[in-house]
Amino acid sequence: RLDHAIRPKRLADYIGQPRVREQMEIFIGAARLREESLDHTLVFGPPGLGKTTLANIIAAEMGVGLKSTSGPVLERAGDLAAMLTNLEEGDVLFIDEIHRLSPVVEEVLYPAMEDFQLDIMIGEGPAARSIKLDLPRFTLVGATTRAGLLTSPLRDRFGIVQRLEFYNLAELTEIVTRSARLLEVPSTPDGCEEIAKRSRGTPRIANRLLRRVRDYADIKGRGEIDTPIADAALNMLNVDHHGLDHMDRRLLLAMMDKFDGGPVGVDSLSAAIGEERDTIEDVIEPYLIQQGLMMRTPRGRVVTRQAWSHFSRVPHEQAADAG
Ligand code: ADE
Repeated sequence: RLDHAIRPKRLADYIGQPRVREQMEIFIGAARLREESLDHTLVFGPPGLGKTTLANIIAAEMGVGLKSTSGPVLERAGDLAAMLTNLEEGDVLFIDEIHRLSPVVEEVLYPAMEDFQLDIMIGEGPAARSIKLDLPRFTLVGATTRAGLLTSPLRDRFGIVQRLEFYNLAELTEIVTRSARLLEVPSTPDGCEEIAKRSRGTPRIANRLLRRVRDYADIKGRGEIDTPIADAALNMLNVDHHGLDHMDRRLLLAMMDKFDGGPVGVDSLSAAIGEERDTIEDVIEPYLIQQGLMMRTPRGRVVTRQAWSHFSRVPHEQAADAG
């Protein structure tokens, strides 16, 4: 896909995440200086913030190849063994959704990470044998939505742990402006900022909305993205002025209308809106929490005052007091 064209390829082109960038520059620089492979790196954070992009950048900056797979794809020990024995010296092995590795596959990963040894059983019954192989040195880059989803032995084997955070408005505006330039879409600074404002702090969403606003501009306007065009397109796409999408609103409205604003357990919410618990926890609520629209408490999720006012609603007790 055209994603390829706008994905930054080097650390210098990576916008935002200043702490991650500063640290990775040092760790990559030091590994290169000593002509070593980079330590295994865990990258975690909500979807769309650039975990895969960062893995690609690490490989490019180290001047090595990248081989990519994901936790659910590696069903058996042999699937991981095949990936590991296919690596070249210094390569990055990227495992997305690394929290979804099965326990048997994880067991194979430990000695590979620690000693660059493949230690695997082949065959069954009396003919079963254990074989050991030396592997090339490599860098495992693991990605996951929440670090807490990993088993601690796996988490402990990463020498570098980076958390990606939601992007602020200035950073996202820079990302949209850069993408518009690379896609050769005429745009005004305010038009780019309007898209950025309504992108949930997430570059993947910003780049997707940019393409949809471009479509709208081509058909309903004169091909240029300015504020009125961006606003009209985003309204059509059901993205509100705060950048909340349909699912965000469903979740918050369910909490207010069905649970009096909470506290409510995530499983009750899951049943109420028909979304998987994992989707609520990993995709929907991190942004709403970061924006101060809801909170996690020991008794469950609650919406904040800000959420009530975002929807021009009044909490139950206040309504009762007023009446
Ligand atoms: N596209 C996706 N993530 C990005 C980032 N952090 N910087 C620039 N472009 C991006």
